[in-house]
Amino acid sequence: MRTTTARAYPNIALIKYWGKRDESRILPAAGSLSVTLDAFETTTTVVPNPAGDADSLELDGQPADEEQTRRTTAFLDHVRSLAGSEQPVIVRSRNSVPTGAGLASSASGFAALATAAAAAFELDLDTRALSRLARLGSGSACRSVVPRVAVWHAGDDQASYAEPVDAPDMRMVVVTVDRGRKPVSSRAAMRLTAATSPFYDAWVSSTEDSLAAMIDACRDGDFTRIGEITESHALRMHALIQSTTPPIRFLRPQSVAIFDAVEKLRENGLEAYSTADAGPNVIVLVRPENAEAVAAALDGLGELRIVGPGPGAHPLPEGSEVPAATEGIS
Ligand code: DP6
Repeated sequence: MRTTTARAYPNIALIKYWGKRDESRILPAAGSLSVTLDAFETTTTVVPNPAGDADSLELDGQPADEEQTRRTTAFLDHVRSLAGSEQPVIVRSRNSVPTGAGLASSASGFAALATAAAAAFELDLDTRALSRLARLGSGSACRSVVPRVAVWHAGDDQASYAEPVDAPDMRMVVVTVDRGRKPVSSRAAMRLTAATSPFYDAWVSSTEDSLAAMIDACRDGDFTRIGEITESHALRMHALIQSTTPPIRFLRPQSVAIFDAVEKLRENGLEAYSTADAGPNVIVLVRPENAEAVAAALDGLGELRIVGPGPGAHPLPEGSEVPAATEGIS
């Protein structure tokens, strides 16, 4: 075993993953498609800990809470079982934005951890196997293993991984309206949706249709079609989530105001399309040449940042370790 560090970026789904067919293996009810970003990265170091009797996790320089540690250990157990090892490790992870701020995501977190841990345990995994492994930590993490645009296939354990899709160059204007931790986790909200929404089956079957149309639009380089499907699919997901018992609403009045502003931009001839994950922040999909103009038009509606397609999860050279919280304190 050796100490290793890896970096991964969050992804924004244009076709959303919302619902599992198998909770323990994190198999999605339908396929999804996303853009891996070039910002908001997570860097994670995995250190062998022969003296320890359990894994330990430091997040942004602080000891992680019980739930985060439990989820990390459960994930590392998958890695250990592939490696035939029982070795506990120390994990140190750092997000470039504060954890729980709506953009530091479990996708970048588990993609970085999967990449670092696979290398630490000297597993020789290709991108497909790494994507399947990352999926066991958090479903959307399997897409952050892949650069740029990725499709995650539904299917059984072997067949459920992400791989690249040809697509035109695009940018996203991230509009952050709330940096607070979300009131309910994606995982819990997803479970409630499958258990209580009367629209769940229609969502699953229509998502497969939307995904097929999206893959065609990407391959055709048809930005307008990509945008139209993106916005309509996001609104369907939020409608679905509001149909649970008890209802959950992630969008805030400010989020809706951004959807409205983007619609108005389109009416005025500036093409842009909105999407939002399980939270109030809105991501606006634009052609590269329109990114600055759209950001300028949305000024005042939230904190703005233009991002583009980024790299897949990758190991970093020796010497890039995330420092221990106590380092430098004597
Ligand atoms: C709204 O991947 O965080 O961002 O698999 O339970 O860890 P778990 O869920 P997670 O859900 C992401 C939900 C989403 C849509 C998406 O990224 O496709």
